[in-house]
Amino acid sequence: MKTRTTRALQCSAPLVAAGLLLTACGSGGDSGSGQQAGSTSFKGRGPITYVAGKDASGVVQKVIDRWNKQHPKEKVTFVQLPTDADSQRQQMIQNAQTKSDAYTVLSLDVVWTSEFAAHQWIDRLPEKQFPLQNMLKPVVETGRYRGGLYSVPAASDGGMLYYRTDLLKKAGIAQPPTTWSEMTADCAKVKKLPEAKGMSCYAGQFQKYEGLTVNFAEAVNSAGGVITDANGKPDVDTPAARKGLDFLAGAVKDGTIPKEAVTYQEEDGRQAFQSGKLVFLRNWPYVYALAEKSKVAGKFAVAPLPGLNGPGSSSLGGHNLALSSYAKNKATAVDFMKFFSSEESATTFLKDASLAPPYAKLYDDASLIKQYPYLPVLKQSILRAVPRPRVVNYGDVTSAIQQEAYAALTGSKSSAQALKDLQSALQKSAAQ
Ligand code: GLC
Repeated sequence: MKTRTTRALQCSAPLVAAGLLLTACGSGGDSGSGQQAGSTSFKGRGPITYVAGKDASGVVQKVIDRWNKQHPKEKVTFVQLPTDADSQRQQMIQNAQTKSDAYTVLSLDVVWTSEFAAHQWIDRLPEKQFPLQNMLKPVVETGRYRGGLYSVPAASDGGMLYYRTDLLKKAGIAQPPTTWSEMTADCAKVKKLPEAKGMSCYAGQFQKYEGLTVNFAEAVNSAGGVITDANGKPDVDTPAARKGLDFLAGAVKDGTIPKEAVTYQEEDGRQAFQSGKLVFLRNWPYVYALAEKSKVAGKFAVAPLPGLNGPGSSSLGGHNLALSSYAKNKATAVDFMKFFSSEESATTFLKDASLAPPYAKLYDDASLIKQYPYLPVLKQSILRAVPRPRVVNYGDVTSAIQQEAYAALTGSKSSAQALKDLQSALQKSAAQ
């Protein structure tokens, strides 16, 4: 796989002078600034809640039921939020701002750790109580803020290309595409087949929400560009980034991406793929288990995301467990977090719902690879994935990206103008 140029905003010089814009990197250990692990007293036992986006598979309730059976006096109630990341974030912030104790354990998107930790909406966690050494390193890093652990990985996520093996084979294509132009050419061949009548080529997540930030970042990174440079400074107004955005905007324009896909979130794309409307789909691992139970069962496989000149790079996704500062029964909460993020729970999440485990070992397990042949590919995709900007004011950053990417995709701005405007919006946000 081609080495990507720069990785977007890894650990970098903190832009402390720039108000809220701080990087969230740390080396680990308990020596970071801010609240020391252990200074929060995790006291109180009794019922708690677990708050996460809607679970299409039912596995979350299954694992919670397992806990509830063993802990009848410390029952966990699953509070389901909407499926889209932005609404989840809003509801969790609202809960924190009103200092409500309604939410105990939060399923935080990996990109929110810094924001929630900086505002002290979540407690610093006693990291020695979690087997972090058995987890993939970049995944653990998503839980850190200024040296402390504020959220513990429950599931990781890496983008993959779902494709119709039956149709590619019929069209005489032996391997899935590794570049965008190969994907377009493969599509043209497939669409000549009578059984592909009415199908569209490709979709991802292009509605104006967090999924668009992910897909935009992947397009930019997969063309050799970055959103922010190694020092955390916005650097998105570049020829490489433009090639990435041009791919998406051009694909909408020429119909490679169907018009309706600009309204797609993860679930819409999954439905379209499962009902046989799409040849290729960019989506997360959770789709695999559900699609295996659909009309396209046995007729699809997954491959690394394609890019401009070779395989592309995924954005690093996933969900971590965090403890609301305003919660009650925190001793129960920490025990539940240990249980829910354990290797045993991760194995159930993987087996039942194809969620990407944080644990390195599970990717190399022969019986799991038998069930999910793509596990080694997914492991590499996660290890090489590019984190989205790790900043405290993530809400501003993602909404600027969403606005400009959407304008380019829907043709109301050229890619060049959208990137110019995005660069200046990101610079402004960094200077606040
Ligand atoms: C998935 C990812 C998450 C990402 C979201 C975007 O849930 O795990 O990191 O932000 O999709 O829609």
